Parts: sequence; C-alpha cells; structure tokens
Amino acid sequence: MKDCDKRLLKAALVLCLFTTTAGLQAQDGKTFVLKDVAVAEAQYKEMLASSSDLSRFPRTTAEDGTRKYTGVSDWTGGFFPGGLWYLYEITGSAEWKYAARRWTEALAKGQYNTAHHDVGFVMYCSYGNAYRLTKDPEYKKVLLQSAESLSSRFDPKVGSIKSWNSRKSWNGVLWQYPVIIDNMMNLELLFFASKVSADPKYRNIAVSHALNAMRDHIRPDYSSYHVVNYDAATGKVLNRQTCQGYSDNSTWARGQAWGIYGFTMVYRETHDRRFLETARKMADFYLNNSRLPEDKVPYWDFNVNQKGYVPDWKYDLSKFSYIPRDASAAAVVSSALFELSGCLGKEGKKYYQAALDMLKSLSGETYLAEPGANNNFLLKHSTGSIPHGFEIDVPLIYADYYFLEALQRYKKINNL
Ligand code: GLY
Repeated sequence: MKDCDKRLLKAALVLCLFTTTAGLQAQDGKTFVLKDVAVAEAQYKEMLASSSDLSRFPRTTAEDGTRKYTGVSDWTGGFFPGGLWYLYEITGSAEWKYAARRWTEALAKGQYNTAHHDVGFVMYCSYGNAYRLTKDPEYKKVLLQSAESLSSRFDPKVGSIKSWNSRKSWNGVLWQYPVIIDNMMNLELLFFASKVSADPKYRNIAVSHALNAMRDHIRPDYSSYHVVNYDAATGKVLNRQTCQGYSDNSTWARGQAWGIYGFTMVYRETHDRRFLETARKMADFYLNNSRLPEDKVPYWDFNVNQKGYVPDWKYDLSKFSYIPRDASAAAVVSSALFELSGCLGKEGKKYYQAALDMLKSLSGETYLAEPGANNNFLLKHSTGSIPHGFEIDVPLIYADYYFLEALQRYKKINNL
C-alpha cells in the first residue's frame, strides 16, 4: 500500500472511531474539558495577577462584591495553591508550577497549626499535591509536621480527632468534644504520613477516627449528621446536631459530600470493605434523593423547609426567593464518584455516569463563570453557611479545587 493510501486508511479509521458511540462520547468529553481548562487558565491568570499578597488566599466574593481572602490559619488556604497544582498537572505548563510552588510555600507555617482539624485540608491540598507532583523532600517534611499537628487533636479515650475546640450549638448545648463529618477529609494526610514515615501511628488514628465516624455520624438510611459531640472523659456520644445544615436531623449537602469522598478515600487506603459499603450507600442516598435537582447540583441541605425538620438558628431564610444550591457539594461528589466508580468494577458504571453528569452540569453556563467575571473564581452558586448567614450563593475556592480535581480524574480515566 502506498504511503498516501495508508494515511487515507488511518484517517478513515479515526473518523470511524469518532462516529461510534464511545468515540462520540470521548470527543464530547474532550470538548468540554478543553473549554473548562481554557476558562480555568484565563480566570486563574487574572486571579494571580490581581493577588500579589502571598499572605492572603482567595476564598470567595464578599457582600460588597469584591474578592475576599483568608489567612494561613483559616481552613480554606490550601485550595488556591491546590488548584494551581491541578492546572500544572493538566497543562504541564511551567508557569502554573511556579505559581503553585509560591502559593504553597506561603502556607509553610500552617504545618504547626493545632487550633483545629483543618490542618489536613490546608496542608494536604497544597503540599500534598506539591509532593505528589514534584517529590521535593522539603514538602514531605512539612507534611509530616502537619500530620503531627493534626494527631495532637486525637484523644484515645474518644478515638476520634477533635474537630473544633469546645463551643456551643445553636440551641446552647455545650459541645465538649465536637467531631464533624468534614473531618473525614483530613484523614488523607495521616495515611500519607504513615506511608512515607513507616510509622503506623498516623494511620491508626485515621482508621480509629473513620470507624467512629461510620458508627456515629451515619444514620441507618446512610444520610449523615454534621456534628457528633462526645463526652471528653468517656468517649460516649452526648448529642448529634448541626452547625451548617438546616436542622439537627437534616442532611447538609456538603456534609454528605465530605462523607462520600472521605469514606471512598479511606477504602482506597485500607481496602476495608465496610468503608466502601458506607461510601456507596451514602452516594446512593445522595443520588436517589427525590430532592436532588435534575442537574444533580444539590440544594444546600436535602431537607430545607420539609415537615419534621426544624432549624434552631435564627437567620432569616425568607430573604431568598429560592433555595440556594451548593455547587461545592456537587464538585466534591463528582470527584469522589470518579474514584468510587473505579473501586466497584462493573457496578461502578452508574457512579461514573453520575460523576460525569455533575461535571457536565458544572461545566455549563449556569455554574461555570465567564472569563473575567465571578472575581476570577471558576464556579458560581455555592453556599458556605446559611445558619451563619454568610457566603450564600457565591463562588467558593473549595468548589473550584474539587471541580479541577474532578476534571483531572475524568481526563485520567479517559486518557484525554
Ligand atoms: N469544612 C467546612 C465546610 O465545609 O464548610
């Protein structure tokens, strides 16, 4: 066969590939990924150009419409550097790597933060990705110190990491040892620390915490309580309440998202099928819920305004003529379900499809920002905390982070 005939045959084969269903899907996937990455690059280029103070980490849009930042000790500092690492991983561009390093290193003193459990979120999303992508031994040192700081909040009498210091609930109950479902996310740092140090103590803490969370946070229908308050002396559960959800017995969408993601990750690290089962059934609760909108981006809580669910907090919800969504929960769940689907073999298909549906919703014009708009954040329509009356229907940096992670996971699964 002549060379030009070979080329024609090859072109025909490629055309054929793209006209099969799988081929069309791959092409469609490639199209939205390319568009999302272009938007993310444009937005974060402007974000970098307009955020020169490395002690102020982009977080959201303030009430006056300007970009709002936070410091190192807040729980959200690691997401912007983490997002930059995903952009580096996705594009391979040295520019993103340079920016990711600078913003990551700006968090260095976070490794000593023992004031709350979020040292896991802050340091693993930033330094964790930094180490994964560069293998720089300095980053490993920082991560080990961060794991040490997080472990200092573990009390063997309770068997869990104390998420927050003592505080009062909305109805005045003193939480002496509050543990929140979000804390599942911080365990990844501990698994990492045991792997690289060969010291099992971090992993043991993570497993103990996850077992307690499975026992105490998860209801029989696999919905979740936000806060479990333990007796610090005996480890007995004193109360189960909410801080950011609609009511104590409701299911706060992002809390459920943290659980789905967290238990999937703990299964990856332990191969204990109880964690897989929990992740899967939490995902089923989420996906089969009659209150999940068609685009699979949840309202901020699954039980808002529902009979039998009574809030304790005072924020006036009637200020809104609609129930705010939480795109951040959808981004977390999309990323989690890409991983969960891979753990479930053939049965994983429906979770993969749900992950993709969510990613496509978030990639549409309702949620994905126009370049130059949205204070250069990527996603619109997330909700921080309605009971506290803040960050309602706004961009949130953690929505962007998990969106980029979901995009990267989707790309990797499909070799795009
Ligand atoms: N971890 C705090 C939140 O999800 O709002």
